[in-house]
Amino acid sequence: MPNQTKPKPKRNPSSKQGEGKLAHRVAKNSNSNRKTAQKPIGRATPKVAPPKPSAKAETVGSSHMRLNKFLASAGIASRRKADEMIQNGEVEVNGKLVTELGFKVDPINDKVVAAGRIAKIDRRKIYILLNKPKDAISTSSDELDRRTVMDFIGIDDRVYTVGRLDRNTTGALLLTNDGDLAHRLMHPSFGVNKEYLAELDKKMIRADLQKLKSGMRLSDTGEKVSECEAEILGDGTSVWLKIHEGKNRQVHRMFWTLGYDVKKLDRISYAGITPKGLRRGEWRHLLPKEVDRLRKLVERAGETKT
Ligand code: URA
Repeated sequence: MPNQTKPKPKRNPSSKQGEGKLAHRVAKNSNSNRKTAQKPIGRATPKVAPPKPSAKAETVGSSHMRLNKFLASAGIASRRKADEMIQNGEVEVNGKLVTELGFKVDPINDKVVAAGRIAKIDRRKIYILLNKPKDAISTSSDELDRRTVMDFIGIDDRVYTVGRLDRNTTGALLLTNDGDLAHRLMHPSFGVNKEYLAELDKKMIRADLQKLKSGMRLSDTGEKVSECEAEILGDGTSVWLKIHEGKNRQVHRMFWTLGYDVKKLDRISYAGITPKGLRRGEWRHLLPKEVDRLRKLVERAGETKT
């Protein structure tokens, strides 16, 4: 089930994600009754009812994991190579040599050293997809106390929107605390695709569709926008378009330039991720495979464009 939290006017300031201590003096295997410094995901602020995550967040640190997986996640080696390192006696956990394949570690509290390097996994990263409703602004707090997208999420962790949607634009909005990925996704050089459905004040004529598709200069600032894909739908007042830029209010301004007003705007896909199955105001954690796909997308695009 997706999450839906009744929005409250104001959200408590987020508490910082706690990071556990790395160093423990004595190595113990996972079978012991160690307590881990965990923090539940998706925990609500006191003012907001706890939402139930519909898919597990990509998370580290919430349970023990196999040493080879830990080493791979920490970027030390592939799992297979990590197994070799373990067998070769190159890995220490809490100061003790571990040669047992299948040994489990607490990724937050155990100190793991592999071939002389400290292995450490990034603190928990959170990736959320919100089906943004109308009348919500894409910031974490608002001086004027207007409803923000954070009011729908209701978790303690501090997350930021990946770009913005206008107050009355609905649809796919990503939120994350992974600054690097967010930055890449928003960077124009990566050209991440965004698909929109726009409802216009009047029927669009074919000649204007051609202008829209072939790249145009925005009438207000003279900025150039690139080519895009677009189609006129239904009775002619609805237009689907796919753009790979994210200039401020770009879609509205493209239509304004051509003499149309946008009555409604819905983002139906961001980088291929759609809010299908989520009602307005509902959210879910991205699946690990979706996060991987996003990462690959900006790696690949980065490689081809630099
Ligand atoms: N373009 C717009 O004009 N508004 C949005 O919210 C997103 C893209």
